[in-house]
Amino acid sequence: MRSYYCGQLRAEHIGQTVTLCGWVDRRRDHGGVIFVDLRDRSGIVQIVSDPERTPDSYSGADSLRNEYVVKITGRVTQRPPESLNPKLPTGEVEIYADQIEILNAVRRQLPFQVSSAETEAVREELRLKYRYLDIRRERMAKNLQMRHELIKAMRRYLEDMEGFMEVETPILTKSTPEGARDYLVPSRVNPSEWFALPQSPQLFKQLLMIAGCDRYYQVARCFRDEDLRADRQPEFTQLDMEMSFMSRDEILDLNEGLVCYLFKTLKGIDIPRPFPRLTYEEAMDRYGSDKPDTRYGLELVNVSDVVKDMGFKVFSDAVAKGGIVKILPIPNGNDLISNVRIKPGGDLFKEATDAGAKGLAYIRVRENGEIDTIGAIKDNLSEAQKQEILKRTGAEAGCLLLFGAGDSPTVNKTLDRLRQVVAREQGLVDPDKINLLWVVDFPMFEWKEDEKRLDSAHNPFSAPHPDDMDDLKTARSLAYDLVFNGYEAAGGSVRIHQPEMQAQIFDLIGLSEEDARGKFGFFLEAFEYGAPPHGGIAYGIDRWVMLLTGEESIRDAIAFPKTQQARCLLTGAPSGVDAKQLKELQVASTYKPPLKKGEG
Ligand code: AMO
Repeated sequence: MRSYYCGQLRAEHIGQTVTLCGWVDRRRDHGGVIFVDLRDRSGIVQIVSDPERTPDSYSGADSLRNEYVVKITGRVTQRPPESLNPKLPTGEVEIYADQIEILNAVRRQLPFQVSSAETEAVREELRLKYRYLDIRRERMAKNLQMRHELIKAMRRYLEDMEGFMEVETPILTKSTPEGARDYLVPSRVNPSEWFALPQSPQLFKQLLMIAGCDRYYQVARCFRDEDLRADRQPEFTQLDMEMSFMSRDEILDLNEGLVCYLFKTLKGIDIPRPFPRLTYEEAMDRYGSDKPDTRYGLELVNVSDVVKDMGFKVFSDAVAKGGIVKILPIPNGNDLISNVRIKPGGDLFKEATDAGAKGLAYIRVRENGEIDTIGAIKDNLSEAQKQEILKRTGAEAGCLLLFGAGDSPTVNKTLDRLRQVVAREQGLVDPDKINLLWVVDFPMFEWKEDEKRLDSAHNPFSAPHPDDMDDLKTARSLAYDLVFNGYEAAGGSVRIHQPEMQAQIFDLIGLSEEDARGKFGFFLEAFEYGAPPHGGIAYGIDRWVMLLTGEESIRDAIAFPKTQQARCLLTGAPSGVDAKQLKELQVASTYKPPLKKGEG
């Protein structure tokens, strides 16, 4: 049907007669001469029609409207000097149209302007409802192109350079423990029994190692019924990998090779190796987060030992109860952050209390080392304590010190949030910087207060650190995360490969032998037949696309995403089903719609 894509045409094609197909990006009438920007996936080229030079196409050109689908045959011509467009790759040429054939018209009013010349912001709900129109626009088209290039580069590296083989694993399967709720699918042929959609291919990829696959990868769809955020979707895509007979450092090294290849291929950027590594402990201590954004400083300072005996009860009690007191020092904070913002009712105060803090103590450092602070701190802070705090935080005149006091998870969460807000508003986050680091030595377990039991920090298949075998409860694991500009961009571990150790770990997280057999019996049995040492990792592809395209939501990295309410606005899913289908499945709903006011 066509001889070229619109975006391909250059000066070298001048004189050729070409046939193009695409959409009318926009049509302009300049005193009888009609200009049409014709668009396809490759880009835009200008078409010209006027009654004198192209009489055969003129009436066709006149009737075109935005987003009509057309086929155009015409001559590639040099643009006159005054209409050269250096911003457009095809900006040196235009096509004099001999024939214009309308392949399809637009029969309804467009819900929003599609043309790349329009800069109007469109509501996200509308973009999602008419996603096929949104994807015609430059932003989404570019994002999907980047997604495609990313996955292509991942495949090239893993298959062609490292000998990985792609294996597909089931979607209708059994529950895989990644810590979220399962999506369940009833089995019609086995009434009252259910499949779970995979939260990840974790169990199968380990079985593939036992099966001798040696190096597996998959571009794998995962399903997790969890509360959604800007960087989470209920179904998302992982680059999932597993490899046998490799140590942790060998796995990290291979992955650094992959990541460097991706940046070189996609962005032409060389990333220095090895990537920095932080232990989990260090990351929490210095940044209050296990996925710190280290493009900027604003490091936290622990002063628990300095204030532990202080008369200010908020601090001393926190330490006495096993908690901590930490400071976020903000150089120039006195100029930038008023008292209104850090006192009750202020935005930073709210940020802190939303993270669980009970209050937000502060010290302002004035000229010649004097300090301003709330009375209760001033009255109880000795000169030696004050000097030690100033020394540790490196605080100079103008610096604002924000305190977190309490149990360490809450203090870290609070100061991590404040650190990010302050960095953003002070312009400390350079969007062009690429910040990659490994966080290693995660704890094996975390305490679940509500269930009063230990739970795996990563997943129950991560191997304990060989130096910590004496006390598994407090052991570190061989799990690692790759952090990219403050996001968890990949995570994995070296796995347990001895069935005895696996049984011990299940026991520690409170899974009885019977439960473990019921849930993972097939998996545990497989380990009895010769499991190789192995480990792996999974990358969140949607997050990578979001970060590589500079978007703030992974919805903009996915062709047809769900909303925060886990709905697809385009298809209307999820939706009710026929009573007949439910009957066949032998499933009945127990849902009772909430009573409306005045009912009941
Ligand atoms: P994990 O649960 O850390 O590990 O997931 C790996 C990576 O997947 C991405 N990710 C998500 N992206 C979008 N929406 C979500 N809801 C979501 N959840 C996770 C993150 C994360 O780093 N089986 C293990 C991997 C392994 O151990 O090999 C796993 O799934 O970028």
